[in-house]
Amino acid sequence: MKNDILVVGSMNMDLVVQTDRYPKKGETIIGNDFKLVPGGKGSNQALTIGKLGGNVSFIGACGKDYFGDILLSSLKKGGVNTDAVYRLEESTGIAAITIEKNGDNRIIIVQGANSKLTPEMIDTLKNKISRAKIVLLQLEVPLETVIHTIELAHQYNTKVILDPAPARKLPENIYHKIDYLLPNEGELDLLLKDYNLPTLEDKVAQLLDWGVGAVLVTRGEKGISLYTKGMQKTFEAIKVEVVDTTAAGDAFAGAFSLGLYRNWSIEESINYARIVAALTVTKLGAQSSLPDISEVEKFKKEKGL
Ligand code: RIB
Ligand code: NA
Repeated sequence: MKNDILVVGSMNMDLVVQTDRYPKKGETIIGNDFKLVPGGKGSNQALTIGKLGGNVSFIGACGKDYFGDILLSSLKKGGVNTDAVYRLEESTGIAAITIEKNGDNRIIIVQGANSKLTPEMIDTLKNKISRAKIVLLQLEVPLETVIHTIELAHQYNTKVILDPAPARKLPENIYHKIDYLLPNEGELDLLLKDYNLPTLEDKVAQLLDWGVGAVLVTRGEKGISLYTKGMQKTFEAIKVEVVDTTAAGDAFAGAFSLGLYRNWSIEESINYARIVAALTVTKLGAQSSLPDISEVEKFKKEKGL
């Protein structure tokens, strides 16, 4: 029986600085606040699912250090199974994040232990992939590890959802093994930058031609566009006051996967995911902004959704 969602990806401690503006070259400015917040695209997505009541396991790597301890306990507290997290000699990954007054963020990642998650390590956990109903991945661990996991999942008939962030070119022959691809507009451009495809529609058509099952382009205020062969549909974005968009994409990917896991339609799953993502934008930080079930229910009532 296939019985859970498996997330394979990164763990980072986010070093979050709030500032009125970004310093110019050579300039020192005084910031407003500093927080350590658990993050990393992989663990954010796993925690989204856990906090919303899903049955979720996580495969990733962190150090045997203080940051690793905090990240693991954050996942466990949110109901994520962390038995398959490797603790390595390498330091835990970090993300240096600045958030400006208007909510804009800039992120620099130092991969640390995330860069040591190898295809061989995934092989020893093959059972987890074969037992999962869905595998959810991003691109914050080595590309060969992501590709190897997708290949195994395909072999075991496990659905593959890829959030291609941070984006880079992928081999053309991997796309037909991806059931759902979730790029934002910038990521879509990067995935296809070596091809002469001027419009968003051209790019999506190419991905569908290569065999992706469905492409969901998250477009910020312009909403979410869903494309499958022969079908296109746009979902409006939910208007909220932006505090910090960090992890909104992760919340979207996690909640969307949970919807599919529950056998909801793509449309229902997107609708749920956009609600969860919108809530995340109203709070500071990555894992500190992920909602639980009661917050989602309250928000739906308030907004009449
Ligand atoms: O998507 C947000 C995440 O990106 C942050 O938590 C940071 O760790 C980076 O991985
Ligand atoms: Na946030």
